[in-house]
Amino acid sequence: MGETMIDVRHLPKEDAYATVDQHLRLVLEGISDPVATMATLSCLLFHGFGHLWVGFYRVVEPGRLLRVGPYQGTLGCLEIEVGRGVCGTAAATKRTVIVPDVDLFPGHIACDARARSEIVVPVVDANGNLAAVLDVDSEHVAAFDRDDALGLERLVRIFAGTERGVSSTIAHE
Ligand code: SME
Repeated sequence: MGETMIDVRHLPKEDAYATVDQHLRLVLEGISDPVATMATLSCLLFHGFGHLWVGFYRVVEPGRLLRVGPYQGTLGCLEIEVGRGVCGTAAATKRTVIVPDVDLFPGHIACDARARSEIVVPVVDANGNLAAVLDVDSEHVAAFDRDDALGLERLVRIFAGTERGVSSTIAHE
């Protein structure tokens, strides 16, 4: 499978996200399991773009608590309260948050001291509920813009079509 790993760094962002989307669907063909989807998408984005950290924080207590899910990178914080940090802000507002410079974001949670910018995108499940957030961190300042928001928001729509919602299968043990 290693030989199918993609590198989209040379592509314009729109094409890069389209390539990731294509590979995500190819790899997952016939499987609509949210954990497999989170793991596969984390892997494709991490290696495809060469980001510092890519992964999911799942809603385990709606409106209150997020817990780490499948990710690629160094150890992530295990739990984040809704409303705290960039992930908690995206969960509280259910909106994508782009942080060009993490040092200028009050309450930013530094899991990896090398992170300089990040984007967090809400993930909605098959029932239309917030199920998780997708967090992508970069070593570079201002690595993310509107094209990343659009590309990532389009990619996470795949979760609305997974067999059971992310939260209903893995969040409430
Ligand atoms: N920076 C995030 C925390 C998650 S880690 O970076 C993996 C935040 O402020 O919510």
